Amino acid sequence: MEKYIIKGGHKLQGEIEISGAKNAAVAIIPAALMVDGICRIENVPSISDTQMLLSILTHMGAKVRPLSRTTVEIDCRNVHPADAPFDLTRKIRASYYLIGAMLGRFGQAKTTMPGGCNFGVRPIDQHIKGMCAMGAQMEVSGGFVYGTTPSGRLRGAYIYLDKVSVGATMNIMIAASLAAGRTVIENAAREPHIVDLANFLNSMGADVRGAGTDTIKVNGVSRLHGGSYSIIPDQIEAGTYMAAVSAAGGELTIKNVIPKHLECISAKLREMGVEIEDGEDFLVVRRENPLLRTNVKTLPYPGFPTDMQPQITATLCLAEGTSVVTEGVWDDRYKFVNELRKMGAQIQVDGKVAVVEGVKNLTGAVVAACDLRAGAAVVIAGLCAQGTTEIEDIHYIERGYEDFVQKLRSAGADIVCVAEPDEPAQGDDSIPAAG
Ligand code: EPU
Repeated sequence: MEKYIIKGGHKLQGEIEISGAKNAAVAIIPAALMVDGICRIENVPSISDTQMLLSILTHMGAKVRPLSRTTVEIDCRNVHPADAPFDLTRKIRASYYLIGAMLGRFGQAKTTMPGGCNFGVRPIDQHIKGMCAMGAQMEVSGGFVYGTTPSGRLRGAYIYLDKVSVGATMNIMIAASLAAGRTVIENAAREPHIVDLANFLNSMGADVRGAGTDTIKVNGVSRLHGGSYSIIPDQIEAGTYMAAVSAAGGELTIKNVIPKHLECISAKLREMGVEIEDGEDFLVVRRENPLLRTNVKTLPYPGFPTDMQPQITATLCLAEGTSVVTEGVWDDRYKFVNELRKMGAQIQVDGKVAVVEGVKNLTGAVVAACDLRAGAAVVIAGLCAQGTTEIEDIHYIERGYEDFVQKLRSAGADIVCVAEPDEPAQGDDSIPAAG
């Protein structure tokens, strides 16, 4: 077991380079299962979620060859759909993309119900609705999801999503790429990683149009061939460092970003008195004056991202006045508030609304990362707090942020990762689920 120790009170200064987008990579790696050839994928973030997905593909017979820390070659010409390693698939949310990929390529799928960060009920009914509309017979029982197609191939369909869902949109896009005929997804999610997945599939020979709008059309093709693709920079990783420098003060140049993807975050931070200069592929984020209060509501893209809600809530703890945060995507994404309270934050939560009363200072404490973004939020609080903050359960953070400690240290933060003696083992559930 490892933990972070942060001595707070240092401004952030310097440059941080953003890695490839986690939530694009965790869809693109399973989508490689669809490809009857060799895919070379660049800018894959080196995090435990991507490592876990690559292991899943390897268990299924794929040849996975790392060419560098962030470039990998995947050859899925000889994969066996029956060999999915269920001890791994149940630990990761993004394993739901195996359903679309296996049904699309083999006309059959069996995997576990996905794991994932716990922010209330996380149904996959819209994924299943999509697969059924394309002719699959789906069954969920005993913790498994089973899918079969009577003819061995999905067929194109018109699918109206009842809820804007990133996962369902991407899963249906993957499956539909090899279906017979045209699939139309209405009320589709529009996140940058949806466009990235479409670009990946198209570069392997698929015909996906309209990604980034709420209507996506996929003309099924008979085969996807190999090719090369580079994943976009991570919007949420960049946003996390933007929030960190806004909270701690100082000036950071955040490199390798797509500023357009960050507008929803920049706009809010500017309201809080943070100065942001947009470059072609970088941002300069500066905070010298006291932070101002604001209200935030999370929404599907291009709204303010739910995956930035914990980090902005932590930042607002130090803003002058009272801010209201409304979580518009997940039912229960405020577990981290208890950890921030241990550090002196004044936050009241009522259902999906958190009222944040700004305080002059936070104080260091022993806290836990309750999930990936919750972990980022307590790190941000620790960077600003007086004294020392110890953060436990950091495995959550390391599933989604490449080189988190090293990047923050390079910008002047006093943060280290130290090993703690292991607790006695209790069963085999040591790797918790993320995403
Ligand atoms: N929903 C349904 N039915 C479904 C699917 C979703 O009702 O079949 C609901 C959910 O309960 C939620 C809303 O729709 O209220 C949105 O869920 P969505 O499907 O968009 O989320 P997801 O695909 O499970 C991904 C990211 C999450 C991120 C959300 C929203 C991955 C692996 N996870 O989850 O990322 O919060 O989209 O943007 O891509 C993270 O990176 O920290 C993270 C949790």
